[in-house]
Amino acid sequence: MRKSLIAGNWKMYKTTKEARDYIHELRNADWDVDREVAVLAPFTCLTVFHEAREWSRVQYGAQNMSWEKEGAFTGEISPLMLLELGCKYVLVGHSERRQVMGESEEMINSKIKRALECGLVPIFCVGETLEEREKGQAEKRVAEQIRLGLQGVSSGHDLVVAYEPVWAIGTGLNAKATDAQEMCSFIRQALGRMYDQKWAGLVRILYGGSVKPDNAGEFMSQDDIDGALVGGASLDPAVFRSIVNY
Ligand code: PGA
Repeated sequence: MRKSLIAGNWKMYKTTKEARDYIHELRNADWDVDREVAVLAPFTCLTVFHEAREWSRVQYGAQNMSWEKEGAFTGEISPLMLLELGCKYVLVGHSERRQVMGESEEMINSKIKRALECGLVPIFCVGETLEEREKGQAEKRVAEQIRLGLQGVSSGHDLVVAYEPVWAIGTGLNAKATDAQEMCSFIRQALGRMYDQKWAGLVRILYGGSVKPDNAGEFMSQDDIDGALVGGASLDPAVFRSIVNY
């Protein structure tokens, strides 16, 4: 049984004060025990989640990390620093990091391996561009991202994959739930071929891209969609709360 995961990706929004207010807003929020709620916060806000860990039910993690544990890497954050602040998750390979920061498949692969080695759960993002979809290359592209991203990774780890079609991120144009299901099922089958069916059946696969309170339920009702990665709609705690309680 896969526990569903609703993860908010705050991107480069919120100061520590705003993060503190947000966590307090969610303090009395109620959601089913079979549902896990997480926030992927800016590095500077992680300490706020750490301080609230005794009473807050919200899991948390970072949006990026270095593939090295320490060293002369100015401006980078080590997985060990994330662990010290109690992070459970780390987002790896988000399309904004691929496209804006120029992250390569090789960097993404190194980050996934390091995260797993250190005991962080990577939320590994994959997804095709509009051009790739229009050319009928969506599955080919996603299969390639999965293959390259997981090179040298053994099965059995706690891993989350997020299918986020690039054209649906921050555009208000969400994928159709049935199309997202098709791709998530394709990803699960690919994992089953690369590894084993048993593990593929345990990996949680999320959909991300313009998830809102009014479409969350439809995505979540699909067999191979185990949760959502929510950007813009996670910034307001009341809106996020209604997605969590889809
Ligand atoms: P969005 O972003 O929900 O604003 O489309 C999703 C994401 O970037 O993870």
